[in-house]
Amino acid sequence: MGYIKEKFKVKADELNVEVKELVKNYGTKKIDEGVTIAQVYQGMRGITGLVTETSLLDANEGIRFRGYSIPELREHLPKAPNGAEPLPEGLFYLMLIGELPTEADVQYLSSMWGRRSHVPNHVFDAIEALPITAHPMTMFTVGIMALQTESSFAHAYSEGLNKKDYWSETYEDTMNLIARLPRIAAYIYRRKYKGGQHIQPNGMLDWAGNFAHMLGYSDEGFRELMRLYMVIHADHEGGNVSAHTTHLVGSALSDAYLSLAAGMNGLAGPLHGLANQEVIKWILQMREELGGGMPTKEQIETYVRKTLSEGKVVPGYGHAVLRKTDPRFSAQMEFAKKHLPNDELVKIVWMVYETVPPILKDLGKVKNPWPNVDAHSGALLVHYGLVEYEFYTVLFGVSRALGVLASLCWDRALGLSLERPKSVTTEWMKEFVEGKVDAIAD
Ligand SMILES: CC(C)(COP(=O)(O)OP(=O)(O)OC[C@H]1O[C@@H](n2cnc3c(N)ncnc32)[C@H](O)[C@@H]1OP(=O)(O)O)[C@@H](O)C(=O)NCCC(=O)NCCS
Repeated sequence: MGYIKEKFKVKADELNVEVKELVKNYGTKKIDEGVTIAQVYQGMRGITGLVTETSLLDANEGIRFRGYSIPELREHLPKAPNGAEPLPEGLFYLMLIGELPTEADVQYLSSMWGRRSHVPNHVFDAIEALPITAHPMTMFTVGIMALQTESSFAHAYSEGLNKKDYWSETYEDTMNLIARLPRIAAYIYRRKYKGGQHIQPNGMLDWAGNFAHMLGYSDEGFRELMRLYMVIHADHEGGNVSAHTTHLVGSALSDAYLSLAAGMNGLAGPLHGLANQEVIKWILQMREELGGGMPTKEQIETYVRKTLSEGKVVPGYGHAVLRKTDPRFSAQMEFAKKHLPNDELVKIVWMVYETVPPILKDLGKVKNPWPNVDAHSGALLVHYGLVEYEFYTVLFGVSRALGVLASLCWDRALGLSLERPKSVTTEWMKEFVEGKVDAIAD
């Protein structure tokens, strides 16, 4: 270790002890109206400080998009011909407009996104410049950044854009981006895993169906899964890392491409979207360590305890806001019961669901021992042959773009301000608890 690194470690260890003491002794003390010291140190949990119109999360009930729960969306949103799952076009319309779409609204979006889906070659060149070993999420954000040359907002702004028209150019960027993301994502998949054998879009299909087609899956079950997947991952109100980052970067009037790429970098973190690859990796490793086949409940229990004893989290379990089983998990479970009830990996996911919560509860510190959206998705994808789990977060990202970009349109339409919360130092905190400086609100 170099001397500066060593010095930093000493300082960090010291301050860590002080911060823990501070939070323990004064965690409930308010530095601002309603804001406690613990909240400041612990990721701003529970502080309401954002407006996001597209969806609202209830800790016990889960997500509602413009008032509609996931089961309600599955019932009310338009479906593909002969399909049973909602079309993501309909969810996007609902998030943007705030009303349930008609079949015609959904068709309008499908064909508009089809017309706008051309991706310029330099985007593929930028992806090709990365080594094949690069993580698909790195390729994805590089692709989005390369596409930024096409930003209507950036072009119009550089020529002098009236504030009242910000929303209009953001809307154009949003539609162009959503139209092109499946093509970029599919390109990455086919480049990395299928020897660069790319598949041209099929203009007759809906947005998610065409995405499934370009990935190389013609099974109708997989298309249905993609429709459901793109709906349930789209939005989770505004405070999660990908939504908040997109909003924060957008608040500097960075265009939709810059903002979304930033949000996607947040999604690529293992405590957020990358958890979906971690779950299946964890399950496959467990199966391998146990010699293959179906594990017993006792074996799963031992494996969970081993994971915890190694200082790791159990991926797919826990949530910063939710306190019950995630309805996005339940929707996937329902899908599996209908389409693939005898799949071995799916059955393991269900056994893990029976095993993990009591163990996490017993730890006494985990606020939510229940599964989140990521606990189930991998097993469904593996069933249809999409086994390359490093790609899973890209699927999440394509879906998440629907929610965060609809929100960005609203940010611009409402003229929301540059985001700039106040920060303080631990030195300030210590002086504050000693009564040497005043509370922020004073
Ligand atoms: C999602 C997550 C980041 C939420 O974090 P959070 O809001 O800080 O959660 P909590 O307040 O319940 O955390 C309290 C403690 O329980 C631990 N904990 C939470 N979930 C856990 C899990 N699945 N496995 C093991 N420990 C967990 C935390 O690491 C923390 O430990 P610490 O005090 O030693 O640092 C967390 O539950 C997690 O890491 N889950 C696994 C990763 C995952 O599935 N992410 C996808 C989320 S949609």
